[in-house]
Amino acid sequence: MGAIAATVGSAVGLGNIWRFPYEAGANGGGAFLCVYLVFVLVMGIPAIVAEFVIGRSSHQNVLGSLRSLAPGKHFHWMSYVCIIASLMIVSFYSVVCGWILEYLYQSVTGGLLGHTAEEYSANFASFLSHPWRNLMWTLIFLLINHLVLRRGLKGGIERISNLMMPLLAVIMVVFCVRSLLMPGAREGLLFLFRPDFSKLTPEVAINAMGQAFFSLSLGVSCLLTYASYFKDTDSLMRNAGLVAVFDTLFAILAGMIIFPAVFSYGTGPEAGPKLIFEVLPNIFGQMAGGALWSVLFFVLLLIAALTSAISMSEISIAFFSEEFKLPRQKASFLSTLIVVVFGSLCALSFGVLSDFKIAGMTVFNLFDYLASNILMPLGGLFFCVFAGWILDRSVLKRQLAVATPGGRFLMRALVFCLLYVAPVAIALVFFSGLLK
Ligand code: TRP
Repeated sequence: MGAIAATVGSAVGLGNIWRFPYEAGANGGGAFLCVYLVFVLVMGIPAIVAEFVIGRSSHQNVLGSLRSLAPGKHFHWMSYVCIIASLMIVSFYSVVCGWILEYLYQSVTGGLLGHTAEEYSANFASFLSHPWRNLMWTLIFLLINHLVLRRGLKGGIERISNLMMPLLAVIMVVFCVRSLLMPGAREGLLFLFRPDFSKLTPEVAINAMGQAFFSLSLGVSCLLTYASYFKDTDSLMRNAGLVAVFDTLFAILAGMIIFPAVFSYGTGPEAGPKLIFEVLPNIFGQMAGGALWSVLFFVLLLIAALTSAISMSEISIAFFSEEFKLPRQKASFLSTLIVVVFGSLCALSFGVLSDFKIAGMTVFNLFDYLASNILMPLGGLFFCVFAGWILDRSVLKRQLAVATPGGRFLMRALVFCLLYVAPVAIALVFFSGLLK
């Protein structure tokens, strides 16, 4: 139970509550959601299963798995891609966790609520461009993350998170109801659930794929590492299904909170990464005891984000300690040191570094784009091909055969998706995005 809950804890985080609404908002709403759901089904679940199979059959981290399952074949170079991607992700993820800390601080000190929609927007913009505030919260978050990792408090945080996640779901349902009661909420629901397929472009597809991979923690061996702790009697298909279902429900719920409010205020769904930070205070402001709700929400969100951040940091820590034979404390220090440097660049890219652009993107956007839309899909493709075509087929079958719900049919469908559909679909979307 512990390892599975931790895996769901890794998947559910800012990807669902912060990233999904703004990606859906900027990519056409309903059309994005449809493509997203299809991708979770035909790429996401097979890719989760692929990482699970590799992790559990070797009971080792990514480097050890690839070396021991395909000895002498040099596939372990892929672990370097995973490490680089995971470090990039922690870097920009901790910036957003810093924004949560700022909002928590404002909620506690009473400054968050009681403004107009325009003021929320302006306040957030001025916070972002503040010379050091954004950076300060990023570093504070990284410090918390570091202390948890270094002291091995991971287990404790996960136990707290097991209690808090259901609570987060419950209060999100309350917010959803509040948001749906706003005038004009219907528009928002239609935006999210009525697909307008004329909005479907290769770019929307690649963004939906990137979002699916990001939200499911895929392609950087995060799930592989967690699956190395699964018991040999756990059903991998059932666990993959649980991760996908919980993760998707949280994302849809977040969409059902944000879009009705967005349309009610007429602010527009295309605000980008700042979307939820402009919209949520509006919702809390309209609730009885709004300040209390907002404190509760940001605390719970912070815990959900922390379990995700821990899961990404684990990848490089495990790698450094195995590859360089470092004790855990030194490995976590090295990992944090790298992320402090790159996380600071990401934080400053909203202020003093906002004009510093590579390929037209700020450091923050570049890291997000490279990791989510390029490295993670490549990683997902690799793990599908590895589990499906390189790993001994009998290992795959044996791993999947354990306590399979739905029997042979589901398993055949899954293996078919893993071997053919997922790799081809990932490659197609990937190249159509590159060639656009
Ligand atoms: N899936 C997490 C979220 O939705 C983020 C995350 C955790 C992640 N581990 C990861 C993303 C590994 C990519 C790779 O917030």
